[in-house]
Amino acid sequence: MNFVIATLPGDGIGPEVVNQAVKVLSAIGKKFGHQFEFRYSPVGATAIDALGDPFPEETFQNCLTADAVLFGAIGDPKYDNDPKAKIRPEQGLLAMRQQLGLFANIRPVTTFKSLIHKSPLRPDLVEGADLVVIRELTGGIYFGQPRGRSENLKTAYDTCVYHEHEIVRITELAFDYAAKRRKKLTVVDKANVLATSRLWRETVQNMTPNYPDIEVNYMFVDNAAMQLIQWPKQFDVIVTENMFGDILSDESSVITGSLGLLPSASVGTHTSVFEPIHGSYPQAAGKNIANPIATVLSAAILLEVGLGLVEEAKAVRAAVDASLEAQMVTEDIAFNKSKASSTSGVGDWLHDFLLK
Ligand code: IPM
Ligand code: MN
Repeated sequence: MNFVIATLPGDGIGPEVVNQAVKVLSAIGKKFGHQFEFRYSPVGATAIDALGDPFPEETFQNCLTADAVLFGAIGDPKYDNDPKAKIRPEQGLLAMRQQLGLFANIRPVTTFKSLIHKSPLRPDLVEGADLVVIRELTGGIYFGQPRGRSENLKTAYDTCVYHEHEIVRITELAFDYAAKRRKKLTVVDKANVLATSRLWRETVQNMTPNYPDIEVNYMFVDNAAMQLIQWPKQFDVIVTENMFGDILSDESSVITGSLGLLPSASVGTHTSVFEPIHGSYPQAAGKNIANPIATVLSAAILLEVGLGLVEEAKAVRAAVDASLEAQMVTEDIAFNKSKASSTSGVGDWLHDFLLK
């Protein structure tokens, strides 16, 4: 079959890691007889430099008319310490989420045996941990109005808004994930303080009778932050609002020691987006040392969830497992740093392995 993949490498290490995922997808195309057309567009700081806009209209149209979006990373340190900058790379990400209607961000957190020693937690706490954080991505305090500064600039405000329909659609998706997994759903909120959280809780409570097989529990976000560290294995599917999800998904991703390996998917009303969760890592940009596995595994979810190619996705995951086994890995996770591979070296190995 023929597929169009909008390819948005973005900033920092984005282009290097996306190149490796493209290599892997090309190998899959050859192996399984598919034609992938990679249609490139700028996003983030790169797009500001080129076109003055972090999510240009042509990039949006590319995404809208593609079968899936493969995304690298955005962010550039030159904007981080300038709170007065009028245009910021991150606005490109938020615009993409809003315009493509990407209301759900799905971050699976799994453990890799060879990386457990990298976890900041005791091995017995993390070994076998397997959870998914489902974060609402187009509502809440990230987008609520009004927001801004008072005239004298001495006061600033953001508004957290949720509508019932936004809670229903993400919770349905979370229930579906739980049904396919260990059938446990944890709803994270701050219902002891926030009105929006009380609407979340009420809305989910009204939905639970439709899902009698799923065990639902509710946890305040501060407690959830603690429980994730104390006993991560208790979690199966976590669903939560935008800002809590931003924080808890970063926390979840480091507990297994596998930050450089974790992929994510953002799905919604238009084309879905697949991206690594590690960000633009500017210190490593251009050095050919960044770990491409999170992007390669994002390509695996792209195949499975975005294009419905389940066997192809399995082949990618098997190749990644083989590369870890063979210690064909970048320096961040190599046992012996002097024998570490480069970013492109790992991509080439995976490509060749798939076509063996
Ligand atoms: C993420 C990032 C973004 C967010 C930033 C870069 C705007 O942290 O994808 O989690 O806060 O959503
Ligand atoms: Mn984040």
